[in-house]
Amino acid sequence: MPIPDRAKFSITTPLYYVNGLPHIGSAYTTMAADALARFYRLRGCDVLFITGTDEHGQKIQRAAEQLHREPQAHCDEIAAGFQDLWKRLNIQYDRFSRTTSKRHAAIVKEFFQRVWTKGDIYLGQQQGWYCVDCEEFKEERDLLPEQRCPIHTHRAVEWRDEQNYFFRLSRYQQALQDHYAANPHFLQPDIRRNEILSFVDRGLQDFSISRVNLNWGIPVPEDPKHTLYVWFDALLGYVTALLEPEAEPTLENALENWWPIDLHLIGKDILRFHGIYWPAMLMSAELPLPNAIYGHGFLTKDGQKMGKSLGNTLDPFDLLDRYGADAVRYYFLKEITFGRDGDFNETRFIDILNADLANDLGNLLNRTLKMAVKYCEGKVPHLDPQALPQDWSIVQLAQTAGERALEAYDALNFGVACEAALALVRAGNKFIDEQAPWSRHKTGDFETVHQILYAVLESVRLSAYLLAPIVPRLSTKIYQQLGYCVNFDDLDALETPQTFFSVRGHDRWGVLPPGQTFGQPEPIFQKLIAPDPDSEP
Ligand code: MSP
Repeated sequence: MPIPDRAKFSITTPLYYVNGLPHIGSAYTTMAADALARFYRLRGCDVLFITGTDEHGQKIQRAAEQLHREPQAHCDEIAAGFQDLWKRLNIQYDRFSRTTSKRHAAIVKEFFQRVWTKGDIYLGQQQGWYCVDCEEFKEERDLLPEQRCPIHTHRAVEWRDEQNYFFRLSRYQQALQDHYAANPHFLQPDIRRNEILSFVDRGLQDFSISRVNLNWGIPVPEDPKHTLYVWFDALLGYVTALLEPEAEPTLENALENWWPIDLHLIGKDILRFHGIYWPAMLMSAELPLPNAIYGHGFLTKDGQKMGKSLGNTLDPFDLLDRYGADAVRYYFLKEITFGRDGDFNETRFIDILNADLANDLGNLLNRTLKMAVKYCEGKVPHLDPQALPQDWSIVQLAQTAGERALEAYDALNFGVACEAALALVRAGNKFIDEQAPWSRHKTGDFETVHQILYAVLESVRLSAYLLAPIVPRLSTKIYQQLGYCVNFDDLDALETPQTFFSVRGHDRWGVLPPGQTFGQPEPIFQKLIAPDPDSEP
């Protein structure tokens, strides 16, 4: 795919269920979305990044009951927990959408009315196996022995036989197939696209969009004895989020500026809702469809999906307390190929961070900067970067590193983007060892010493720029030690925020300004220490 050349970019995470505090699985989607949002902001795009919480339905009602709490108080507390985690993970979202807000109810009502008027909603009898943890009816053939859900393997599904309102999904089968064919990037990656295509080819059935015996939700506008199915309500949370804070909650206002969304980033378990139900609902309401939906893989523990319902999660608060935001972000985005499943392993976590960030990147900057302070009077050497020897391996690698990383970000290959930056760092370490500027300095070859130090420091700068969407704090420290007054967490503070990076070509090699005074060399990433297995938890 070409590197984007767009003025605006909008992205969403799923709206997370508030049945419990967030675990690392929910944090995973959010870290990826944040990295992408930061990437587009760095490219000068106007970005809208939406996240939020999905607060209705039986799953949430039961979670509150078990804790003997009022559902709303429970939702408020957990939603605050999500916001707290996003702060600690250094997530810069623009909108936090909550499905229990009054504004959301108004949007849902108006949307429902459009679909109702279109004749796409009717009353019918729903029979089937329901998984409350998935909030989804399951096909009998997909169940495990003893009627257990294949995802929430610990609990049996429940038999339902009740009157529900249905949405005429079957009416949109052909239109959906036409849309998938005409828009090959609509569903990503290919493996997920193929799953959806073959599911739709087998024939779509209408699905029920209301529940009886449930009061924690939005009443069906035409028949308040029924409560809207949580997914019908939740997907519209993306639309509610688009309302300007002061705007009246109407569909027209919500859709005015940012619709359609560029990218819904989700996990693969909720692909059918986003790739089939949601576009069909939008077609029924005669609204444009989102541009793309990407379903990533699962974080697993011993091969099973980590989740609140299964209770096999990793506590992100604890991980952040021990290792900090940059470390957590780096590990999950670099180490797990985006789109595939990946297992978490703490030993590997520590090894990767120490090798890549503390040793390769941190040490390279620290020792090179110390030399530059000593040999170049604390300033970037005065030389023409374009006149450096073009046959130096580091110069050659640096000339293509930017392009490789940017293409990788655009394709959501975060690991490849990190690798492009790290390859340059490793080449820098090798180059400086081979060139031994300390020996050349003794022999009085000052010009070459300056060239070597420039080449290496500029490579570190470029790597820091390329890593900034993933480890913004680390990149900020590097930029500041190189003498820039830049904070990747606060791009708006730059004099010319939209153009600072793009006009000066920070994604290319050769921009470190000769004569710029360096900051104080300090270690940028403290080595991580593995927890002592014998210590008290
Ligand atoms: N509430 C719905 C989404 C509605 S969007 C309008 C929901 N919520 S969820 O909290 O259960 O899951 C939210 C996201 O977290 C999903 O994309 C899901 O795939 C992701 N993850 C939950 N557990 C996960 C892992 N163990 N690994 C990776 N992502 C996982 O579904």
